[in-house]
Amino acid sequence: MKKRHMKNKDSINHNEENLTPEESNDRRAFLTKLSIGLGGFGAFVVALPILGALFAPLIQKVNHVWRPLGKVRDFAIGETTLVHFENAESLKWSGLTAKTGAWLRRIDAANFEAFALNCAHLGCPVSWVPDSELFLCPCHGGVYYRDGSVASGPPPQALSKYPVRVNQGVVEIKTEPIPISTFIAKAN
Ligand code: FES
Repeated sequence: MKKRHMKNKDSINHNEENLTPEESNDRRAFLTKLSIGLGGFGAFVVALPILGALFAPLIQKVNHVWRPLGKVRDFAIGETTLVHFENAESLKWSGLTAKTGAWLRRIDAANFEAFALNCAHLGCPVSWVPDSELFLCPCHGGVYYRDGSVASGPPPQALSKYPVRVNQGVVEIKTEPIPISTFIAKAN
């Protein structure tokens, strides 16, 4: 076995010795290009899923659907309530992940507004504090007024809003891809 290996090595060395300097340079250049090409292709294959996850939201067709939240009379005027609804892209096997949520505020007899749960800074879920009528973000201390505008902290903009309507006595929310960071919001 060792003899055979040495024989192969000898024949390679012998082949290399038979090459002119020009041929040897060409061969080295070809092998260099080949290894760079294969390395680049490997890196591309590894990066593909990451690039897909980053850019898919920018090119995918957005599916807007109206979802019922409850009857108008179920919500008291001036109150803000956590509501859950099925998101637009849910699949049969999505299970719990098909559900999303929003903060719904009844402004008056006929008008509602719905805010995203995610902070406009880096996407942490905000909570509603009824006594002070403020939304608080636990991550970096972002604070929002009841209308979603920024009261203090790092959020660069107000909470995102969903379209809401009343249809035959039922409050409905329109599913939207809500940006969970200001980077995506600006890209859109
Ligand atoms: S994520 Fe809310 S303040 Fe930073």
